[in-house]
Amino acid sequence: MTLPFDTHSTWVKNPLYPLISPCGDVVLLYKTTGRVKTLPYKFYRNCPTNRNLIPKKDVNFLNILAIESSCDETAVAIVQDGRTVLTDCIASQVELHRIYGGVVPEIASRKHMEAISALADQALLKTGLTRKDIDAVAVTYAPGLIGAVLVGVNFAKAVALALDKPLIPVHHIRGHIAANYIAYPELKPPFLCLVVSGGHTMIVDVQDYTKMEILGTTLDDAAGECFDKVGRVLGMPYPGGAALDKAAQQGDEKKYTLPVAKPGENPYNMSFSGLKTATLNLIHHAEQVGEELDVPSLCAAFTASVSETLVPRVVRALEQTGYRQIAVAGGVAANSRIRRDILAAAENLGAKVYLPPLSLCGDNAAMIGAQAYFEYLAGNTAGMELNAYATKSILGETL
Ligand code: KG4
Ligand code: ZN
Repeated sequence: MTLPFDTHSTWVKNPLYPLISPCGDVVLLYKTTGRVKTLPYKFYRNCPTNRNLIPKKDVNFLNILAIESSCDETAVAIVQDGRTVLTDCIASQVELHRIYGGVVPEIASRKHMEAISALADQALLKTGLTRKDIDAVAVTYAPGLIGAVLVGVNFAKAVALALDKPLIPVHHIRGHIAANYIAYPELKPPFLCLVVSGGHTMIVDVQDYTKMEILGTTLDDAAGECFDKVGRVLGMPYPGGAALDKAAQQGDEKKYTLPVAKPGENPYNMSFSGLKTATLNLIHHAEQVGEELDVPSLCAAFTASVSETLVPRVVRALEQTGYRQIAVAGGVAANSRIRRDILAAAENLGAKVYLPPLSLCGDNAAMIGAQAYFEYLAGNTAGMELNAYATKSILGETL
């Protein structure tokens, strides 16, 4: 018999506490190390060393099948009770869009359609769950490329209808915030969250799992958008953020002087378009006069300016709100410099910092499944009239 995990010898050595889901199929094995492993009950039952362990029957898990297709990653995950990821399957289209230097919306939608059904089958296969084990279906319904979001929404509606299970619409940015619930099971609202993704940059007061307030937001470009634009002009592969981060680590940030947006009327609001324009002008000017650019140093100076825009606002928000927990979310949360600076600044104030692992910074469906659990508990389900939206605020308002 082939087990779906390679931890067999570990669980035989460690005391285990198996639990069975209401459907009687899934066993959760809590290792003494605190890490959680799951495996289908049939594997568990067939394993001779486990036969004498008596499963507990009074546990009520909610298995959510979550779907994400808002940009260039098709993703399907199965998440249990908002915190335990049973599987997180991603089909990335990044390589495909790279030749165009950015996401081509029509191609993205078509590729989502090709991948989504097989990915959902793969998610079931990987966990050993069957369709009847799925308790609810969650989907990113906004914001994103409209054609791309529609593919996920229509697929989720079809699955929810076919399985006769609740449909849970999830805002993509709420999902990014919820990535932290997966990484840090102890994290509970209230906390502050710095959201830095490709399309959004904001400081959010997460008062409860589904109750939030935006303290400040970018007035123009998102931080990730600027990383990508500067990366592209420097000839880096799309999306430029990761490559720019890597280059910056070898550079001298003092070599170039780039602007940092000053606080305006709302001290939490941000702006990145001035920094973007100044950086692009510097690159073009160097090209025109035939001056060789020190690319790593320019990347370091650019990243430092982004960080110097973000971090003081986060510090101010922590001071003003009195919160002592700050989480970071979104693709740009993977940036090494920003991670380091937030960690240092917040810890200096005695605040606990939650940085998602790199695997949970970018788009994935596990984060959608995590947030969906809390939306479900709050009664935020939808009917077959659910639509997709290219823009919608994190508070659910139409923009
Ligand atoms: O959250 P995300 O996956 O997509 C949106 O919801 O928009 O964020 C993608 C963004 C891209 O702009 C990408 O360049 C940026 O995250 N990114 C980074 C890094 N890794 C990804 N930006 C800076 N440093 C990184 N290490
Ligand atoms: Zn995203």
